[in-house]
Amino acid sequence: MNKTWQFILHKLQDRKEKGSLRKLSTALYPIDFCSNDYLGFARSTLLQQHITDTLSQIEHVPIGSGGSRLLSGNHFYTEETENFIAQFHGAESGLIFNSGYDANVGLISSLAQRGDTIISDELIHASLIDGARLTHANRYSFKHNNIEALEAKLKIATGNIYVLVESVYSMDGDLAPLQEISACCKKYEANLIVDEAHALGVFGPYGKGRIQELGLEKEVFARVVTFGKALGCHGAIVLGEAPLKEYLVNYARSFIYTTAAPLHNIVSINCAYQLLASADHTPWLQQTIMQYSNALKSAGYRGLTSKSTIQTIRYQSNTTAKNAAASLQQKGFDIRAIVSPTVPIGTERLRICLHIYNTEEEINALIQSLVLLK
Ligand SMILES: Cc1ncc(COP(=O)(O)O)c(C=O)c1O
Repeated sequence: MNKTWQFILHKLQDRKEKGSLRKLSTALYPIDFCSNDYLGFARSTLLQQHITDTLSQIEHVPIGSGGSRLLSGNHFYTEETENFIAQFHGAESGLIFNSGYDANVGLISSLAQRGDTIISDELIHASLIDGARLTHANRYSFKHNNIEALEAKLKIATGNIYVLVESVYSMDGDLAPLQEISACCKKYEANLIVDEAHALGVFGPYGKGRIQELGLEKEVFARVVTFGKALGCHGAIVLGEAPLKEYLVNYARSFIYTTAAPLHNIVSINCAYQLLASADHTPWLQQTIMQYSNALKSAGYRGLTSKSTIQTIRYQSNTTAKNAAASLQQKGFDIRAIVSPTVPIGTERLRICLHIYNTEEEINALIQSLVLLK
């Protein structure tokens, strides 16, 4: 066996021994507490019909886009969609990327140069970390949601400064203190970049996100909003001022060197945003979150509850978290364990996602099953 295969097999064996080997699964569990389809858009027949009708009105819809946006992959419908979404979010402009991962990597890696500084919350998403890793900038992380720790890094920062946070953290569901973070960034003339992946559809009027809920549109340098979660589609948009969009078109490699999303995907995104703008779904969702929190509390469960759709039950090891998930899956609940190295060792957890379509009976049955696992 050559050295490369020895390396690969050793790395896999290491994961097996730590109980952290990732595996693809097609198993289906009927009660969804796992997907990020918070508003049920991915399963909405109303939305599906709207998409089909809209597509039928467009003269020629090719299967694929045929090239990158800068070559043959652009379409007036994509530009219209970008303008519509930017307007919905009170931003000057928006640029669609093929995924949230691409958006974060392209945005961060194109902006920060040698001598600049990137300061990120220690729990930010891998895509923001990977974007930062691709730069030659100085990189610091600060203790989760801790303003003093952020300020300590801002004091030693050089060049253009970029501060990276999520408005709702994807693995814990807790919220960033955005007003304090924004004020701190302003004091040090740092550019605040906020990932709103798990805030869209959940917070703010009409689910516009936490930046709009808090009126911070003018305070942030850029927002990243993804379409694969509450919007039920796929892709993402970077929102900011018009020169930022032009800069990204010229320098963001994950935008430039990739085939544009097919038109039917852009139509789906546009129709989903129309559905989002047609009615405020957030009170309904907040009611589900409240039901879960109250039921968990009255069951006397020592669990963390958050104000978002992402809830966690902590375990102390990969094995205990995986066993808990397996036991719930046997009862029909689609719940997955999030294990290290995705989360730090000792903070392994069940990640429970709440949706507009989860019924009170489902929530109560889940809590009863969690109590039995204690
Ligand atoms: C906070 C956050 N940002 C970005 C992403 C990436 O988005 P996408 O799934 O569209 O690549 C995710 C999803 O995994 C996420 O949770």
